[in-house]
Amino acid sequence: MRSITVKAPVNIAVIKYWGKSDEKLIIPINDSLSGTLSTDDLYAMTTVAVSESFKGDRMWLNGDETDIVANKRLVNCLEQIRARSRLADSKYHIRICSRNNFPTAAGLASSAAGYACLVYALGTLFGIDDRRELSILARMGSGSAIRSIYGGFVQWIAGDKSDNSIAEQVVDHKYWPEMRVVILVVNDKEKETGSTSGMQNSVQTSPLISLRANTVVPQRMKDITEAIKKRDFHQFAMITMRDSNQFHAICQDTWPPIRYMNDISWEIVRLVHSFNDFYARNRVAYTFDAGPNACLYLLDEALPEFFTLIGQHFTTDQGAEYVRGQLPPAKTNISADLTAYVGSRGNKVHHNALKYVINTKVGDGPLVVEGESLLNDTGLPK
Ligand code: DP6
Repeated sequence: MRSITVKAPVNIAVIKYWGKSDEKLIIPINDSLSGTLSTDDLYAMTTVAVSESFKGDRMWLNGDETDIVANKRLVNCLEQIRARSRLADSKYHIRICSRNNFPTAAGLASSAAGYACLVYALGTLFGIDDRRELSILARMGSGSAIRSIYGGFVQWIAGDKSDNSIAEQVVDHKYWPEMRVVILVVNDKEKETGSTSGMQNSVQTSPLISLRANTVVPQRMKDITEAIKKRDFHQFAMITMRDSNQFHAICQDTWPPIRYMNDISWEIVRLVHSFNDFYARNRVAYTFDAGPNACLYLLDEALPEFFTLIGQHFTTDQGAEYVRGQLPPAKTNISADLTAYVGSRGNKVHHNALKYVINTKVGDGPLVVEGESLLNDTGLPK
């Protein structure tokens, strides 16, 4: 038996991927760009083992066995990897055991981290080490997984066929080391519309989506890449917030309309704008994916003050477990002027509106974990 264990990151888009031109090959209608989050705080971990003595392929996800054959994308992904691998004609079978260190209920992009992890692990085991090829394979599992193959800020170039729809690193995670990410996990019981079917409906029914894909995103990709390279946070934040808002506008323009953000999400938007307006420059940027949770990008200079503000407006009955990830910054004084301004903009106190807060940062891509395995010597979960 040969095996390998890998950790792979979550990524959060600042220019959103929404809509495919080819459903089977997962070719998007527009380029997109994301920050990769540090695996110190959030990760998918996967052990892959191969042996000729295994009877059939098996997979376990977060402790439960899952039916590989029932998952068309997974089957496709495995077939592609087998076809490209040096072990292509040997009679081995695969065992996959995967888990996330964050609850799937957090509504984070678990499929992106999961597929990036699987592909990176299998690729490493089977001698596919070209990142471009790995990114294409990850895309077969879930579009956004393509960007989790690299660290730092990463773009997905839409392309128009399978071998030119690829991810590329814009800058690595050390380029802008002050960049922090705070995720506000909103308490929410509603079942969301999945991204796959949601974006399919948008492509079919939203007249606005082609304006976004053909005109708005190409310009934003240029502008945000420049902002990142210049480390211009004000500009970076402006584009990030406006792109999130446009993505949710497309959702509302879809028929029947899709609603991902809820009232608490909008209260977070209000707080961010109040804070930025007070300083007359963007010091925090929000972005929302296909759910109500807010992902905030900010520089470490703004972290203590904004974190304190979040604590004042989103109070909790929880104790220390309310903030996960990196240790929260020490509480700082909020000036009377800022408090008055934020109050005058209608910001209220919301009790227990957040499940928890994740304090993290932009980080590196997937990595091989030495000396740890989720499978035992016979290829069964430990
Ligand atoms: C809103 O990658 O989950 O997070 O390719 O169908 O698996 P499939 O969709 P998925 O969509 C992610 C959409 C998004 C925006 C983004 O990550 O760019």
